Amino acid sequence: MTKLLDGHVAVVTGGGSGIGEAIALGYAEQGASVAVVDVNEAAGADTAKAITDAGGKAISVGVDVTDRAGCNAAAEKISAALGEVSILVNNAGINRRTPFSGDKAEVAKDWDDILEVNLKGVFNVTHAFLDQLRATKGRVINIGSIQSFVHVRWPNSAAYTTSKHGVLGMTRALAAELGKDGVRVNAIGPGLIETPLNKAARDGNPDMVQKVLEHTPLGRAGKPSDIVGPAIFLASDLASYVTGGIVMADGGFRSI
Ligand SMILES: NC(=O)c1ccc[n+]([C@@H]2O[C@H](COP(=O)([O-])OP(=O)(O)OC[C@H]3O[C@@H](n4cnc5c(N)ncnc54)[C@H](O)[C@@H]3O)[C@@H](O)[C@H]2O)c1
Repeated sequence: MTKLLDGHVAVVTGGGSGIGEAIALGYAEQGASVAVVDVNEAAGADTAKAITDAGGKAISVGVDVTDRAGCNAAAEKISAALGEVSILVNNAGINRRTPFSGDKAEVAKDWDDILEVNLKGVFNVTHAFLDQLRATKGRVINIGSIQSFVHVRWPNSAAYTTSKHGVLGMTRALAAELGKDGVRVNAIGPGLIETPLNKAARDGNPDMVQKVLEHTPLGRAGKPSDIVGPAIFLASDLASYVTGGIVMADGGFRSI
């Protein structure tokens, strides 16, 4: 039976955990060969093994997306192992919930670290795969957030909101610039998704979780699996005339 991503080679950054892991597994189920890229090599290797154990094709590559030379080397390594990449999911991300008026050295460090990973990381990886994506008329999916539009006042940081606004801006800019090459660039805006990224924040702030859920028409937090369908859609030919957009997968949070 034909699958939606047969013949595609996909790279998923941050594929060792949470949303990225779910997308990597979902892409493999739809027929794509998958390169799992993660700074946590062991976690990435576990995801790749889960794919190959299920009969799919995958490799894992330990890369820090803030390391530009490392991203370039990974692009060569992945194309040699799996073929030219046609789907790139820029998912790797971090968050630290530092108040802007808090300890100056801590705020400055978190600002640098968050923008390095969440925003410059998207540049580094996309730039590293640019030639392959143009050659394959590829698809880029960036993981944004509700915070691509607003600042969510559960403990959070200005740096994270700024980075996710930037991700949406980069999505639109690259869609405009690369459309002539047949490369589509879109984003997904997850709401509150239960992953290791926010476990401590959820556990430490049950009242805030309740407030978020009260503002969420679907009335529940999301699971990583809730992001897989939009990610497959945007990577597949079903989305052949979709570029420069953001698909919100937030239980309706942003609509009210
Ligand atoms: N969980 C949510 O509620 C939520 C909501 C909106 C957006 N997001 C975004 O979704 C993405 C995935 O988040 P998650 O919740 O699955 O987090 P997670 O912590 O479960 O997974 C993130 C993965 O990225 C990897 N990573 C971190 N820094 C890296 C680096 N420098 N280089 C390579 N890999 C790196 C980690 O090792 C980890 O495997 C992030 O961009 C996050 O901002 C998450």
